[in-house]
Amino acid sequence: MTGTNRREFLKNGLLVGSALLAPVSLMNVLATDNKSFKNNTVRLGVVGTGSRGTYLMELINSVSEQEGIEIVAVCDIYEPNLNLGKGLAPKAKAFTDYRKMLEMKDLDAILVATSLHQHAHITIDALDGGLHVFCEKAMARTLEDTHAMALAHLRTGKILHIGHQRLFDPKYLEGMKRIHDGVLGQVTQIRAYWHRNNDWRRPVPEDKPELERHINWRLYKEYSCGLVTELASHQIQVANWAKKALPVDVRGTGSISFWKEGREVHDNIALIYTYADGTQFIYDSMVQNKKYGFEEQIMGHLGTIEFETNRFFLEDPVLPKPAGIAQLIGNLESNIFGKVPIGSSSWAPEVASQYKGEPLVPVDKTDGTLEQMIGFARSVREGKAIDGLFEQCYYGSVWTMLSQEAIETGKVISMPENIII
Ligand SMILES: NC(=O)c1ccc[n+]([C@@H]2O[C@H](COP(=O)([O-])OP(=O)(O)OC[C@H]3O[C@@H](n4cnc5c(N)ncnc54)[C@H](O)[C@@H]3O)[C@@H](O)[C@H]2O)c1
Repeated sequence: MTGTNRREFLKNGLLVGSALLAPVSLMNVLATDNKSFKNNTVRLGVVGTGSRGTYLMELINSVSEQEGIEIVAVCDIYEPNLNLGKGLAPKAKAFTDYRKMLEMKDLDAILVATSLHQHAHITIDALDGGLHVFCEKAMARTLEDTHAMALAHLRTGKILHIGHQRLFDPKYLEGMKRIHDGVLGQVTQIRAYWHRNNDWRRPVPEDKPELERHINWRLYKEYSCGLVTELASHQIQVANWAKKALPVDVRGTGSISFWKEGREVHDNIALIYTYADGTQFIYDSMVQNKKYGFEEQIMGHLGTIEFETNRFFLEDPVLPKPAGIAQLIGNLESNIFGKVPIGSSSWAPEVASQYKGEPLVPVDKTDGTLEQMIGFARSVREGKAIDGLFEQCYYGSVWTMLSQEAIETGKVISMPENIII
């Protein structure tokens, strides 16, 4: 396919070639033999040793021997967090300026887990300095920065791996395979949501109120798009992966409906995406009720997948028939006889199916974050990115930014052609 054709496809919301990202390509990466890695350690620097950075460091430490990964440098501009990083990598060199870290001679890659608005310049400087980069999602605070990161990746040929761990989660890999094999039939609706019930604030030292914006960066527009970049970004990527496509447009709304304590980002958002085949993706997120938690529901005419809870449902499952007495009790309990007047038309109550479904994978013991770090280290060692992985994440971040634009402008937003790669 020529470059022009490819762009034309992408413009119309159709992912092509390697950007389709077959789940099997991710499974293959993890299935490769790592025994030869022993004498070829991947030397990693971590920029941003806050909550996520230190969590990723713990995971890396847990496999550093078997995977041959060593954290040789840590960097943070906030001393208490830099100390956390040093505690997890006592032999690593410590920095407060990432540019000094990039000058190290024996670094293979860096991991960026800073606040969102810092991702782009750190990543671009590292790629231009000849290093591979793992950068947490979402890619950047603005569409321009997101695009600039992609251009730096293409310009340098260095790996840019974005932290969408669901791409390495076995239940997602299995579920995506079934969706792409047509097991759900024609998928025409996706619903996803992420609900929490807390103010999302982190404590600020009483004697240092000036640290409020640094510590609670998620709540301020200069640094973050709040729920859109922090939570929805994951689920937008999942929807596109399931559809093997990009939306043609998005519309949305957002409000500060509950936490009116000075935050600038919305605490309540709703978005609708349309795909070229007519599929609707309906999304919402809030932080004032947690009853429904989080989920992505992929709905086809033959079945449904609920990824977060590892469930697969057929529309018409062949279930063992309950014994007569159990069936009668079931009918009485669901008030079937009360609801259907004898002798009337064939009306039946359309309440949700009580069918509990089946697990996608028998044991659900990982969310893919560890596997993602292993996948990154293996591709760094080979000097070769996993085919299609970057594009999948890039367009996820692009649509994350377009979602924010839809909420802020109240307009129906489509992807501008100039950011297609
Ligand atoms: N993939 C996931 O599921 C997931 C989960 C949580 C967070 N994240 C992402 O991880 C990133 C970090 O989130 P967090 O919760 O750890 O935030 P955090 O505030 O706990 O940590 C960010 C750290 O970066 C440091 N920092 C900021 N600018 C820096 C700079 N220029 N140089 C060096 N250090 C700098 C801060 O001092 C802080 O220690 C965000 O992009 C977030 O979206 C991803």
